[in-house]
Amino acid sequence: MSHTPATFDKTSASALSDRDTLRANARKRIEDGAITDTYTADRDQVIKLLNEALATEYVCVLRYYRHYFMAKGMLADSIKAEFLEHAQQEQEHAGKLAERIVQLGGEPDLNPDTLSQRSHAEYKEGSDLHDMVKEDLIAERIAIDSYRQMINYIGDKDTTTKRLLEAILEQEEQHADELSDMLEGYTGR
Ligand SMILES: [Fe+2]
Ligand SMILES: [Fe+2]
Repeated sequence: MSHTPATFDKTSASALSDRDTLRANARKRIEDGAITDTYTADRDQVIKLLNEALATEYVCVLRYYRHYFMAKGMLADSIKAEFLEHAQQEQEHAGKLAERIVQLGGEPDLNPDTLSQRSHAEYKEGSDLHDMVKEDLIAERIAIDSYRQMINYIGDKDTTTKRLLEAILEQEEQHADELSDMLEGYTGR
């Protein structure tokens, strides 16, 4: 009886490196830390985009704090709480972006002199509660568009950054949704 030994189908696995290659590659350029040869995104461009997002987050932190401190009127208490929560969440986003920039070998640009020019969203003080909510909604919609474009640009070339951006985008969409409800309901316009 002839017996054909089962052969390992190499076609699907041929793109994978063997163990010795993996080990040898890991020893090269260890100063790159988490970034290895299989990283195929344009690292400088990714760092630049993350720094733009970082500037945007800080401008949003400052704008939400301003709105939190300045909110006045009958409806202010519940809206104030939202402003504060959003400020804190934008701060968390900024922290995660800065950490990823460093992981990629870059430096987070937190220079306050240039923050608002590098931000996608604007720092709008808002004249009253309704105006503040409206400006925050506009800023969130800008953030949503820019995060979605970054995610599309990065694609599967840097899945860790992509996942981070997706998680932030999800929260920006929640922010926009909450602000939209406030505009409709709380302020009656
Ligand atoms: Fe954010
Ligand atoms: Fe947000």
